[in-house]
Amino acid sequence: TKNIIIDTDPGQDDALAILLALASPQDLTLLGITCVAGNVPLALTQLNARKVVEVAGAQTPVYAGCDAPLARPLLTAEHVHGRTGLDGIELPEPQLPLQDQHGVDFIIETLRNEPEGSVTLCPLGPLTNIASALQKAPDIAPRIKEIVLMGGAYFEVGNITPAAEFNIYVDPEAAKIVFASGAPITVMPLDVTHKVLVTPPRVQALRDIGNRTGTVCADWVSFFERFDTAKYGSTGAPLHDPTTIAYLLEPGLFTGRQINVEIETTSDLTMGMTVADWWRVTDRPANAMFMGDVDADGFFALLTSRLARLP
Ligand code: BDR
Ligand code: CA
Repeated sequence: TKNIIIDTDPGQDDALAILLALASPQDLTLLGITCVAGNVPLALTQLNARKVVEVAGAQTPVYAGCDAPLARPLLTAEHVHGRTGLDGIELPEPQLPLQDQHGVDFIIETLRNEPEGSVTLCPLGPLTNIASALQKAPDIAPRIKEIVLMGGAYFEVGNITPAAEFNIYVDPEAAKIVFASGAPITVMPLDVTHKVLVTPPRVQALRDIGNRTGTVCADWVSFFERFDTAKYGSTGAPLHDPTTIAYLLEPGLFTGRQINVEIETTSDLTMGMTVADWWRVTDRPANAMFMGDVDADGFFALLTSRLARLP
């Protein structure tokens, strides 16, 4: 099995990513969940992560990481995810305690203690925690097996500004550090996630699983859907973050290109843009596997069949 750390700002789509990982223990060992400020402030993302772990009946340790981007005030997304970040269904206060250790220190310690090249990082929010770990402990970069992240866009451009995707826009300085780290990176940009839409039949398939997890997930994505469907006129909201976990489970669902990706951190107009050299028009060295396409039906089949294994 692959050892992974999920770094996250739940978020309904983050929650489904965590559950997909927890539903797949024969493939993935989730060493811990580190939380970051993003969709909502840190106090809520760490609380939400613990609620999500309890939906799965798991005991995965949850850590609080950074409460603000490296160099900017926090921008949140209650307009998408609701006031709690996890609107759609009321869940009980979690019994699972928050770990004392800082999330950034957990990332550093894990990468130092586990064998070199054995730990994959899955960032699903702004890259503040990952960049902070790389800054504090540069020795960890060559020890990372892979960073599989949701963020950025190329053809689909932006969802928080005309030029930028939310996770990268919230902390572009952090994204720049991560993309310059030398660690192998796989990116699930909007170009992929805008193809995995939770259409009404797919929501129904989650509900039809018949377990509690399926009901909770259907309620979450139904809430989440209200925003994106109205905004983009599509038949369902994009289910961004679970694509990262699906890639770890079934990489053949995705296709992309090994290319150079740089992060804009100075222009007001294009702040946080992932300048992706998709057509390889520069000789800048490739630093990321930038995905461009996905088998959406295969993705939802995987998601639904795995979530059926949970309580
Ligand atoms: C990303 O932003 C967040 O709102 C989602 O959870 C996802 O990680 C999509 O741009
Ligand atoms: Ca997220």
